[in-house]
Amino acid sequence: GKGGYPFYMEKEIHEQPDAIKDTVSPHIVNGKTSFAEEGIPDSLFRENQNIVVIACGTAMHAGLIGQQLFHTLANIHTDVAIASEFTYTNPVIKPGTLVIAVSQSGETIDTLEAIKFAKKKGAKVLSIVNVKGSTIADNSDYCIYTHAGPEIAVASTKAFTSQASVFYLLAIHAARLNGLLSTEEVAHYLDELNRIPEIITQILDKKSFIQKMTNKFLSHDQAFMIGRGLDYSLLLEGSLKLKEISYIHSEAYASGELKHGTIALITNGIPVVALVTQSALASKEYSNIREVQSRGASVLLITRQSLYKDMNIPEEDTFILPEMDDLFMTFPAAVVMQLIAYYTSSAKGYDVDKPRNLAKVVTVE
Ligand code: F6R
Repeated sequence: GKGGYPFYMEKEIHEQPDAIKDTVSPHIVNGKTSFAEEGIPDSLFRENQNIVVIACGTAMHAGLIGQQLFHTLANIHTDVAIASEFTYTNPVIKPGTLVIAVSQSGETIDTLEAIKFAKKKGAKVLSIVNVKGSTIADNSDYCIYTHAGPEIAVASTKAFTSQASVFYLLAIHAARLNGLLSTEEVAHYLDELNRIPEIITQILDKKSFIQKMTNKFLSHDQAFMIGRGLDYSLLLEGSLKLKEISYIHSEAYASGELKHGTIALITNGIPVVALVTQSALASKEYSNIREVQSRGASVLLITRQSLYKDMNIPEEDTFILPEMDDLFMTFPAAVVMQLIAYYTSSAKGYDVDKPRNLAKVVTVE
């Protein structure tokens, strides 16, 4: 059942603290990352200094988070490929390339075809999958399971944050094996990972505030979302969520890229979600917010206290996230984006769990 919630999506959003705990905890052994149970040899992250993440939709967005983690922590070059494009664009797979496939269902045909293609080219494939014994798990050299439990709502939530948590573990693991992190740094990052369930609970406690914030979308048929770095990746996911269940056309844009074309679409009253969680990027991001404000955009600001800047945005349009290490702000931000989409869809009276035209598992190319 729906556990007392009106929709599975809301139930699944609430299951994230446990999903992440259950996914992460088996891989922290004696204060260190471990994938011994999966038989993943240390050499996999020593010998492969190129990673290609292959996935679709939300799973691909988890890959974008993974890319930044591998870059930032492990100094491993990482590309993210849309599975349905990968197979048909003659990708170059040289020795030393590890393919990481990400899939909740483990049955997505685009991802499966891309895996088969990569294996033929000689790549080793590690998959991150939620469904035990699924076809993608069976067709991979190594498989790490997310323990999100069954995800019934078409819009993916707990699978996404669980997939992301595996990327944190893998990037810390790879960095550690390549001698890039001190013992103290490993301990710090693992402590942050262990804090995620409690941090998500803090967001869930404020969900009625997010519900009120979303009123802003109800009278519009389009929205923009702006951010930089990790925030941009999260907005791609937040924007997909909003599109698929509330039928509002939403475009996530890298803030610095706005002035290269898209800002022409920013006119009076257009809702713009601005996500500001990355310290090093905050001052640039605030200039971008000014740019859209001066074109009349109505801005929803999602930030953290340490980066908050008074931009004349009404209090009811500002959400302050709990503080974590910059790299880990993914989790509180993701949950806020999920709730924005969820409340918009339910306020419009849609069947949140079963959006039109969509199936939970996509088995046609
Ligand atoms: C969006 C969503 C889809 C899936 C995509 C991949 O909310 O759920 O974008 O993420 O179809 O599905 P899996 O992860 O099962 O391969």
